Amino acid sequence: PKPSLRAVRGEILHFLSDPAVAGAAALQHFSDGILAIRDGHVVELGPADDMLAKLPSDIVHDDYRGQLILPGFVDTHTHYAQTDIIASHGEQLLAWLEKYTFPAEARFADPAHAATVANFFCDELLRNGTTTVMAFATVHASSVDALFEAALQRRMRLITGKVLMDRNCPPELRDCAASGEAESRTLIERWHGRERLLYAVTPRFACTSTPAQMESAARLFAQHPGLYLQSHLAESRGEVEWTARLHPTARSYLDVYDGFGQLGARSMYAHCIWLDDVDRARMATTGSAMSFCPTSNLFLGSGLFDLERARALGVRVGLGTDVGAGTSFSMLQTLNEAYKVLQLKGQRLSAQSAFHLATLGGAHSLYLDDRIGNFLPGKEADLVVLDPQATPLLARRMASCAKLSERLFVMMMLGDERMVAATHVMGEVAWRRPLRR
Ligand code: GUN
Ligand code: ZN
Repeated sequence: PKPSLRAVRGEILHFLSDPAVAGAAALQHFSDGILAIRDGHVVELGPADDMLAKLPSDIVHDDYRGQLILPGFVDTHTHYAQTDIIASHGEQLLAWLEKYTFPAEARFADPAHAATVANFFCDELLRNGTTTVMAFATVHASSVDALFEAALQRRMRLITGKVLMDRNCPPELRDCAASGEAESRTLIERWHGRERLLYAVTPRFACTSTPAQMESAARLFAQHPGLYLQSHLAESRGEVEWTARLHPTARSYLDVYDGFGQLGARSMYAHCIWLDDVDRARMATTGSAMSFCPTSNLFLGSGLFDLERARALGVRVGLGTDVGAGTSFSMLQTLNEAYKVLQLKGQRLSAQSAFHLATLGGAHSLYLDDRIGNFLPGKEADLVVLDPQATPLLARRMASCAKLSERLFVMMMLGDERMVAATHVMGEVAWRRPLRR
């Protein structure tokens, strides 16, 4: 039988709160620390010397000295069914959906294809240090089963759901309000709350659901405790104009979702670029969250997310890769591009804020910060181990870093999955980088 107590040793960093609010007090850092884990949950964390004095001598199963241990990354928005169209050339959002996305998603009518891609997608997340993900499936109920199965096997935290889409899309991808609602109900009963899996009602966006389906989505969201809702909001200008034509009486794009009762705690809206402060304030008041997807927003030429205004108005914000419009599974690469988006806005993302966004901030945006996001006792022990020497350039640049903040910044700018030495899920090794040479 496996010993139930295990410990990892290395440089450990995690956040107790938001560094944008609490400053240095938000972060806890041990240059040589030990994290003790029992039955998949954090027991205790502290300096290695102190921990060794009070724990059994053979406790350290995983010695990561010289590497940085962080809570597992939280990706708040992506699409598993778009894995195979990542890096598709030339289009902005609406043409990109027609030309690449819908044909790729149509293939998920085949459960065998869905299972293959779901397994690849989950492995790729773990290889990148992501242990919690909120993802779109497709309109096919069996595509949702495939992704839940793949995450269940790996014990990952996953929030997903069947796409609801009953207009303005190819007929093979179209459901109807009644069938969408019935299939969602069946999936909720089958999966929501099982192990670490949670269900999200998933109306694709305002342009692809009839008013009847929007009402049905809100009904589902309200009827089941703890359920999530995910959608897209104010991503591209063309989409905003189309939404205004479809809903001429709404004050704004957000007001469409609001009018149908789709805002609230555990709702997650990807992009949120073309909003005003009335919208942002309404999202804050209702407890709705934004997923900032910088690689996608730059790739599709959608626009620049305003993190400062979202923060100023108190909106929950997480970070999303948004694959396949996003160009990387790596949350490090996503932080790299987040930094550059904010540069173009004249805003400055500190390395501490960046790593908070990818861990505890993401968990908070998903109302999961009582279970994941940092290493407080009782939390689920998901972690990523980053190798600061992963590439010759990283090693060389690290050598001239004096402060933790500098090292973190270099990691988010130069790092990617090559830095991920290991990923643990519920304490257990779920990915380990093969030894080189
Ligand atoms: N808006 C509606 N559907 C999608 C999608 O699949 N990807 C992105 N980036 N935006 C969307
Ligand atoms: Zn998306």
